[in-house]
Amino acid sequence: MVDADLNREVISRVREAADLVEVVSEHVRLRKRGRTWEGLCPFHEEKTPSFSIDSEKGLYYCFGCHQGGDVFKFVMQLEHLNFPEAVERLAARFGVQLPPKSPQAQKRREEGERLRVLLEEAQRFFVDCFEDAEGASGRSELERRGFVKETWREFGFGFAPDDWRRLLDHLARRHPEGTIIEAGLAVRPEGGTAPYDRFRNRLTFPIRSGDGTLIAFGGRILGDGEPKYLNSPESSIFHKRSTLFCLDRARRPMADAGRALVVEGYFDCLSLHRVGVVNVVATLGTALTSEHARLLRRRLGSDGLTLLCYDADEAGRRAAGTGARVLLEAGVETAVLVLPSGMDPDDVIRERGAEVFSELLKHPTPLLEFLLGDLPPEPARRRRAGLQLATLVCSASDPALRQNLVEELARQLYLRPREIEEHGRQPRRGGVVQQVVERTPLPPGERELVRILLECSGTWRKKIIDLVQPELIEDDRIRHLLEEAAVVMGREGSEAAFAAELLRSSADPEASSLVAEVSNAPMPEITDETIRVQLRALLQRQARERARRLGPQIDAAEQRGDAEELDRLLAEKARLRRDSAEI
Ligand code: UTP
Ligand code: MN
Repeated sequence: MVDADLNREVISRVREAADLVEVVSEHVRLRKRGRTWEGLCPFHEEKTPSFSIDSEKGLYYCFGCHQGGDVFKFVMQLEHLNFPEAVERLAARFGVQLPPKSPQAQKRREEGERLRVLLEEAQRFFVDCFEDAEGASGRSELERRGFVKETWREFGFGFAPDDWRRLLDHLARRHPEGTIIEAGLAVRPEGGTAPYDRFRNRLTFPIRSGDGTLIAFGGRILGDGEPKYLNSPESSIFHKRSTLFCLDRARRPMADAGRALVVEGYFDCLSLHRVGVVNVVATLGTALTSEHARLLRRRLGSDGLTLLCYDADEAGRRAAGTGARVLLEAGVETAVLVLPSGMDPDDVIRERGAEVFSELLKHPTPLLEFLLGDLPPEPARRRRAGLQLATLVCSASDPALRQNLVEELARQLYLRPREIEEHGRQPRRGGVVQQVVERTPLPPGERELVRILLECSGTWRKKIIDLVQPELIEDDRIRHLLEEAAVVMGREGSEAAFAAELLRSSADPEASSLVAEVSNAPMPEITDETIRVQLRALLQRQARERARRLGPQIDAAEQRGDAEELDRLLAEKARLRRDSAEI
């Protein structure tokens, strides 16, 4: 767990120390070419180099797969870390001392640490019981499920005795009762009677975070009883919404394969890991959340695929449909693994064998085919039913993925893509309507503006920010960058690392990618003269646009006979003309 207080000052110290070329060289052979370094992209397969580094700005960009960013982003992408983790990694590597944590962060950390210590002790207790005579029922349940003795330690299986206070008494020797309850290991009944163990007569297994830290337990009842599965309650270190069971084991294989398998059940997941299908995670008895989806996207990269493999029953189908929507909204491509009727993945492995499952794994059903499967064959009815999927396919946040789905749905329903778009474009929750279909070429002068902004002196930069009107910039990413640039310029010491600061500051990944692309593109040198020429052209266009927008207002003032307003508008129009000629 990382929760260092990472302020700007520290981040820029790490950035200065961590040389991008040096970091990348550890993974990629680089050759110097002009003002950039080039090599084979580590993020996609290629034979000729399209990966480029601008060492002065500390930015990389791949012209093949369009990944780009600064040294932190590189480490995040390559090592599958989040931002604070990447900062810590680079700080350690380049000998930058991170500051002590704030009192609150320190306190949170200590609390988390206390819970973790307790959970580790409970884990040892469960394992001891499991290996003891009393754990016989747990052991035979595992054997029944195909887990041979040699695997027990690896998965951390344990046994919670059929008793009310065994764990509690064991832990209470060294820990306050309150902490044991907080950790979810004991329950305090309402009415003030004595607390008792949460897990009783259950086969237990550890639930770990992505980095392998023990954060909770799951337990399956032995024999009959309710509930069949029980897990730890939410705590300051356990959040079901953002935890994926077995992610610690699956994160590397997932990233390597570019594929993740998501299942519903604990034992579906464990059994798959047991037979060597290791890119598998499970949700924790909850539906797939957007946090899960983002986690998957981060691990898989932008061209990853998630396979949903739910029970082959009505509830499983519904869950797959809901999960698919959540994944598509997060920009994760999704397909479905359909199992023989009435079976879950664990059943398939136990009753039919791992080979049969591996075979199924080779033939995922494309999402639309899966969802359209039940449609009536008769064209008109088919169309009516199929159009209900229009909103789903239009909710895909990744433009390329969305376009593929739209076209595929159109083909299936014998409609034109545009009709799917129109149907799917109802305002969604939050009222955001996404209309990204294909990126139009940048308006004249706007790409150059980004380049100039990155390379010019501070004086020019101030002038540009004063003169150019963001709201008249057509490209969303560039408008966003310009607004962000104004914020960054207002900050102390942003001058030296403006491009990097801008990247860090911009929350829009598309804008960041554009910055990285532009600064790695081969373009002629920037001089005062080129800036002047480009800027004049851009400002003249902006002035013309503003003058054009004044047109209707002038007409209206004329019709109303509002002479004062008319004068004001005409004067403004004249001023715009003059200004644009004067730059
Ligand atoms: P199922 O009832 O389908 O059980 O629950 P299963 O996974 O096939 O279990 P086995 O094979 O009989 O042992 C599917 C998943 O729903 C959650 C668990 O994540 C479970 O694996 N669940 C189910 C609970 O959280 N609590 C329950 O009481 C039941
Ligand atoms: Mn099962």
